[in-house]
This record gives sequence, C-alpha cells and structure tokens, in this order.
Amino acid sequence: MIQPAVIDQLPPELRRRYRKHAAQLHGALERLYRAHPGYDGWLERLLTQLGRAHAQRPAELRALDAVREADPHWFCSSRMLGYSCYVDRFGGTLSGVEKRIGYLSELGVSYLHLLPFLRPRAGASDGGFAVASFAEVDPALGTMDDLERLAARLRAAGISLCSDLVLNHVADDHPWARGAVAGDPALREFFLTFPDRRLPDQYEAHLAQVFPLSAPGNFTYVAALDAWVWTTFYPYQWDLNYRNPAVFAAMMEALFGLANRGVEVFRLDSIAYLWKRMGTPCTNQPEVGDLLGAMRALVDIVAPAVLLKAEAIMPTRELPAYFGSAHAPACHLAYHSTLMAAGWAALAEQDVDLLCRVIESTPGLPPGASWLTYVRCHDDIGWGILLDEAGDIARLQAVASFFHDGRGSYAQGVPFQAAASRPVTGTNGTAAALAGVREADPQAGIERLALVHGLALVFGGLPVFYMGDELAQPNDAAACAGADTDTRWAQRGVLDPERLAQRSEAATTAGRAFQALRRFIEVRRALPALAADAPRRLLACSRGSVLALERGAEFLCLANFSDEPVHLDARAIEAAHDYVLPPRAMAWLERRADGSLERLA
Ligand code: GLC
Repeated sequence: MIQPAVIDQLPPELRRRYRKHAAQLHGALERLYRAHPGYDGWLERLLTQLGRAHAQRPAELRALDAVREADPHWFCSSRMLGYSCYVDRFGGTLSGVEKRIGYLSELGVSYLHLLPFLRPRAGASDGGFAVASFAEVDPALGTMDDLERLAARLRAAGISLCSDLVLNHVADDHPWARGAVAGDPALREFFLTFPDRRLPDQYEAHLAQVFPLSAPGNFTYVAALDAWVWTTFYPYQWDLNYRNPAVFAAMMEALFGLANRGVEVFRLDSIAYLWKRMGTPCTNQPEVGDLLGAMRALVDIVAPAVLLKAEAIMPTRELPAYFGSAHAPACHLAYHSTLMAAGWAALAEQDVDLLCRVIESTPGLPPGASWLTYVRCHDDIGWGILLDEAGDIARLQAVASFFHDGRGSYAQGVPFQAAASRPVTGTNGTAAALAGVREADPQAGIERLALVHGLALVFGGLPVFYMGDELAQPNDAAACAGADTDTRWAQRGVLDPERLAQRSEAATTAGRAFQALRRFIEVRRALPALAADAPRRLLACSRGSVLALERGAEFLCLANFSDEPVHLDARAIEAAHDYVLPPRAMAWLERRADGSLERLA
C-alpha cells in the first residue's frame, strides 16, 4: 500500500486530480510492475517525483492546465492545424524558428511539431532520434532557455509546441548506456542484453526489420558489454527495458522536464515497440496499453494541458488500443497512417476502393480524442499497413512501384529499404514529388497535391502538414544523388527561401500550391462540421474514382481521384441537381435547405 502521507503532502489541486485518476494509474502500474521486488518503495518515489514535477511547473502553464482540464476537447476544433519540421531545415536554430512564427500564423498553424531537437548522439543519430540527453537541447540548435522562450512565444501566437519523446531507445552515448558499459548493474538493467545469440535468434524468428538495408537485424553485439543488445532501429539506438520500472520513472522525469519548459504535445516515438514478448513480433503488446494508461494518468494529474500522441504506424485494427477507452484513456492523438497511405493509393489506382475500406474500418474514438491526419512526414510510407484492406500484397506492390519506377507514372518517389525480407518496399519523397508536380507544367500535380491535403483537412482529425509540402517543394536533389540507403533524407531538405518568397505569387508553382491549400484551410476554420469529433458519413456513391464524404448534415466533400471528369447524379449525391467533377478535383459543398449545393472551396 502507498503511504497516505505521500498523497497528503501534495497540494490540494494535485490531490484532487490524483484522486480522479488514481484508479487508472494504480491499475496500470500494478499490472505492469506489482510483481517487481521493491514495488511499494518505487511507487512512493514515483508519487514524490510527481509532486516535484508539479511544484516546478510554471504558473503560466498551471493556468493553461486549468483551462484545458475544463475544456478537454480543445484540440478537436476545426481551427487546429499542425505543421511538422526539423528545426535546422526550417529555421536554422530554435531562435530562427521564432522568426518564422509569422509565417506559421499566416498558414493558420496552431500546433508545431519540431522533430528531435534534444542533444543527439555524436555522429550519425537517425535525424536526432538517437537521444544522448533528455535535459539538453542540441547545442547546434540552441539551449533549454531558447526552447522555453520559443514555446512561450508560440503559445502567445496560439501555437502549441509538440516535441518527440523518443522513449523506445536511447543513443549508445546516453549516460544510461555509458553507465551500463562502465559496469553499473542498475543501468545495465535499463537495456535488453543477451550473453549469446540463443535468445536473440529465437526472438528474430518472429521479428520484422525496420531498416533491413541500413541496419539489418534487431540485435547488435556490443564488445564493451560483451553482449548482444536489443536494437530495433540503428545499432546505436539501444532499446530500453520497460519491464524495469526504473525505466518508466526515468522517462516520466524526461517528459515532465520538457512539459515544464512549455512543450504541450508529446509525440511518443515508436510506441508500438516498447514491450517485447517471445514468440510475437514484439509490437502492439497489451502492456503498451498499460504503459500509456499510466502515462496518461500521470499527465492528467500533473499537467492536464499536455497531449499525448501515439506514433504507432500500424494497421487500422491495432489503433484503438492506443486511444484506450472513455474510462481508461491512453493517447489523445494517433497518426491515421492507413488513411494517409490509402489517399496515395487512391491516386495511384485512380480508384477509392482502398480509401473507402479504410474509412469504413476506422474505429470510433473515445471522447476527447482525435486522429492525426497527414499526407507526408519525415518517414517513408510503409504500404504494408494497408494489407488488411488490400487483401493481397501484389496490389500494394503495384501501388509502391507506381510511385517508384517512373514508367508511365508522374510520380518521383524513392524506394526505401527494398529487401527480400520486406514484402512491399516503402516510398520516400516529398508530397510534390509523389504527386508529380513538374515545374514546366505543374497544374495536374498541384491538383493531386491539393486532393491529398484536402482529404487530410476534411476527414475529421488534426491535420498536420509536413514542411515544404505547402509550397510544393521537390525532393532534396543532393540527398537523392547520395548513396545513403536511408532514402528518407529525400524529403528532409532545407525549406527553400525562394519558394517561401513566392507564396503569394499566383504565377509560380509554389504560390499556386500555397494558395490552393490556404483556401481549404481558411474555409475549414469557419466550419464546425469539420471538427475532429463531428460526425462523418461515406455516401454510397463513393466508388470508382469518386469519394463522397459528408460531415455533419450540411457539408459534403466530393473528390475525383482520376484523370477523367465524372458526372454525379443528383440522387447519388442526395442533392437537388447533378454535379460534374473535373479531373483530380475536390469540391467542398454546402447543402442548402432546397437541396442545392453551394461551393465553398
Ligand atoms: C520513428 C521516427 C523515425 C525513427 C524511428 C526510430 O519511427 O519517426 O524517424 O527512425 O522512430 O526512432
């Protein structure tokens, strides 16, 4: 039993929230760690840590906690729009990002995901996803004070700062890893180490490989430990051992440290991989749900202004666990990656079959939760997540090669980690490259770009744009010319200042793309029917190249994923008149009382 004294020492506000969430917190922690020797002492230290995190929380953030606790749906509004970028690619440094807040506001952004900015491993760091310190900013990007100032300025501009929390692994030069190497037994327990290949081989029989070309296998022999270390991603990213409660507590310390600097949203990186179980693919294990449940309860107690976002790039059927339930919530947000992939597949096939299947299989969400919708991000598109909906792998292979091989296709995608062990090759490239935006004749490409972004904006979720896509930025030529097997760098170029300067010029490709997307964003902001939690209905006429998606009773989105115009019959779209959709068009329409449709965008 926990000593009541630990709870009694908490300030009243925290005690009230503790009582509200105690059942969820203790239920999850007991399932995870009850059997661990020293559980009671550990729990008391965790609760003390929670009190400390709250005591250190600045007044301004506590005020935000109160506002959001009273309005837990705040991020479901149709006024929410996200933007994701690397700090150096977007603004050079954290202070440079500050100088671009005006640009973000112009686009309508209210949520900014900065890709990893904490001190990374020296040398290769998987784009910062190998973290060497959770308490320091990458010196090349700034300092913790810069981070705090940026977060405050963003907040003043109505923009919530989102940070990665890379919690599946740390860099091999993180103090925990260094300590393990130096022989500290407690720190060695932070990792999953094996004296020989016996168990790793048994695990491998059921594991997939994330980077089969650039980092084959899931274990790395580390001479300094004379052991095999579990490394799902790069060999220098050492997976953490979440069966050890000390790891969980340490990660919560990292989370609250950043939250108290002003981070409002945590992107829980690679969350599906946290719990390993022999004989399984070691993803989506039930214990991940408990880890998230406990994390959510702690956040709701200490810092209810904070949102948790699941980065679980998994088949649709696996996603409900990441949200939890109304009584036991987990993440507030999760990437709808099958929707994203299906949007691209609809373009490749000029058919919405897969997209409709994904929409139909999309589960309802508990209250106060939302999808994160998107078009591109810093990672590849992994087509395999669509297997349930596609039925057979050959169909997905055809979609992937449409984006890669150039033959007869407009797309300029780059294959990712093509290996025999992978049934379908992933795709890299910016949205403009995949949509086939060509400088010489950009129109059709821009229409496709607008179509897939329109889908992310209309579906019902928090749409997040990936830096440069709003300006139809092409692939990074230097990265594509290089020999790196990690082709994700194709979409990680520096934001082109020339394109940025052209955003209001209708004669330029960047300007046309920007204005087309701006129009959708503006219209969406004024329409409560497009909020994340407003109802959606797929009309029966959604087939072939046509998607007809209704939001609320009055809003209808009609989209044509083919290069031919389509004529839609009045009855099929439940309207007073027929509607003709040009090739690649998306029309946002309002139903009037007399059944006529008025075009909004
Ligand atoms: C996530 C990130 C990806 C990174 C991996 C390992 O999937 O999005 O970029 O390589 O985690 O941290």
